[in-house]
Amino acid sequence: MIDKKNLSHLKNWFTEYVHTFKNEDIEIQKNIDLKEEHTKRVCNEILYIGKQLGLNDDELRLAEIIALLHDIGRFEQYTWYKTFVDGKSENHAELGVKILLNHRVLKEIDNETRELILCTIKYHNRPSLPNNKTEKCLFFTKMLRDADKLDIWKVVTDYYHRKNKKRNGAIELGLPDTPGFSKEVRQDLLDKTFVDINHVNNLNDFKLLQVGWIFDINFKPTFDCIKKRRYLELIQEVLPKTKEIKEIFDFVITFQQEQNITHVPNNDVG
Ligand SMILES: [Fe+2]
Repeated sequence: MIDKKNLSHLKNWFTEYVHTFKNEDIEIQKNIDLKEEHTKRVCNEILYIGKQLGLNDDELRLAEIIALLHDIGRFEQYTWYKTFVDGKSENHAELGVKILLNHRVLKEIDNETRELILCTIKYHNRPSLPNNKTEKCLFFTKMLRDADKLDIWKVVTDYYHRKNKKRNGAIELGLPDTPGFSKEVRQDLLDKTFVDINHVNNLNDFKLLQVGWIFDINFKPTFDCIKKRRYLELIQEVLPKTKEIKEIFDFVITFQQEQNITHVPNNDVG
């Protein structure tokens, strides 16, 4: 059970905590701001998805807290390692759990809810969902993963279509902007699986990896947003105009359309 007081207390803690990472270096501050703003938008996305799924006020507050704290490890990660790449630093989800425990941030929350919050944060960035967790934990993990992806798609598509062509290594993960793309990435997409980060060699591969997130979306309201905001099409626009790329997108966009159809309640039954 999460009351309004818990929620506002945690929001204040978040603001104060992020403030401690204020940095005079404009580049560093920009990346801290990027994650703070991302967090706020993920809170809005999860509330939108939650409302569409008919969650009650208590469940919506829980969802909001999960979104608020999910990337708490990012601030320390960037400050220490100057990168958001977990492989070059440490797992930001696990770091986040450690920070929440060390700061005793969830001390006012009952044990069961605290475990649930920590579990969703821990699993939000795994390639696939955990299989040994409660239904409730799985449900909130799925919502968080959907909300998180909705906003990362916003961040990357805004970036790919930005007016100034200045590059940000923290978003591009320092990948080279070379022509072509990897065959393995293409195969991952055609297999409808999460693109393996080990198959990513250049920026085009990375864009295709972001396309593959569509295979990891859990709820109809999320599919509706992706379609409405044209995320997949916006990524296609910044990839080479080749027959192979078109084939991949035809395949992925067809998958997206089918998801929309299968999730519409069928009133014709009977
Ligand atoms: Fe996130």
